[in-house]
Amino acid sequence: MESPLDHETARALLAWQVELGADEAIGDAPVNRFELPQEAPRRLTVAVAPAPVQAAPRPGAAVKAAAVEAVAVDAVAVARQAAAQAQDLQQLRSALEAFEHCELKRGARNTVFADGNPAARVMVIGEAPGRDEDIQGKPFVGRAGQLLDRMFAAIGMARDQADSRASVYITNILPWRPPQNRDPLPEEIAVMLPFVKRHVDLVGPEVLVLMGNISCQALLGRKGITRLRGNWTSALGRPVLPMFHPAYLLRNPAAKREAWADLLMLQARLREGA
Ligand code: URA
Repeated sequence: MESPLDHETARALLAWQVELGADEAIGDAPVNRFELPQEAPRRLTVAVAPAPVQAAPRPGAAVKAAAVEAVAVDAVAVARQAAAQAQDLQQLRSALEAFEHCELKRGARNTVFADGNPAARVMVIGEAPGRDEDIQGKPFVGRAGQLLDRMFAAIGMARDQADSRASVYITNILPWRPPQNRDPLPEEIAVMLPFVKRHVDLVGPEVLVLMGNISCQALLGRKGITRLRGNWTSALGRPVLPMFHPAYLLRNPAAKREAWADLLMLQARLREGA
């Protein structure tokens, strides 16, 4: 069928969409969202079981069954409860996959949980999946991830190492890709943080490596990676080494010098027994 648009107009419209941030096609047919019925704002409600009845008020009086009431609760509390109930990594992954209170999930293809050896001494925490990670369902598989692998290979470590002394375990603060790779919002981080903390508890690494500002902000409550990097600190009861994010290193190759120094610090600490 012939397109009603001429070539130049179609091209201009496409360029305009790319400028707005629509960087990939996600369906075969266009959807006019202005014509969709308005969705009511989503309010998170959960059913709460009634308190057990202590005693009948009067002998012989009928005890009314208390109605199950619905009360609004915040998503962070739901996340905390779901995360706390997970007894192992498989349960934590399932809890995340079942969690419906982060809007990012609705736009993501996959829940990106983790990769690497869960017995590793080192757990790396990045920011959030990008396009490649969203497609493959694994953290750090795009260009930044390939650089991350090369960085650890330089100190004899890898995510696919069976030997826990030479392996790394990798996850992110957010398991779902933010649209157009925008920075995660503070509310999104707050909702997902209980899962991250439980993740760290269940893996039990000797050392955490925080890649970039977002994971430092989430777990240390501080930003300013240029000052934080290369200085050991602690969080969740473990030693923490903040480092430049590999995506930053791709944009600023001169900073690889500092990243190399940080990797050597990590290696030395592991040799000392962390
Ligand atoms: N950047 C991150 O922080 N995490 C990924 O998984 C990929 C890119």
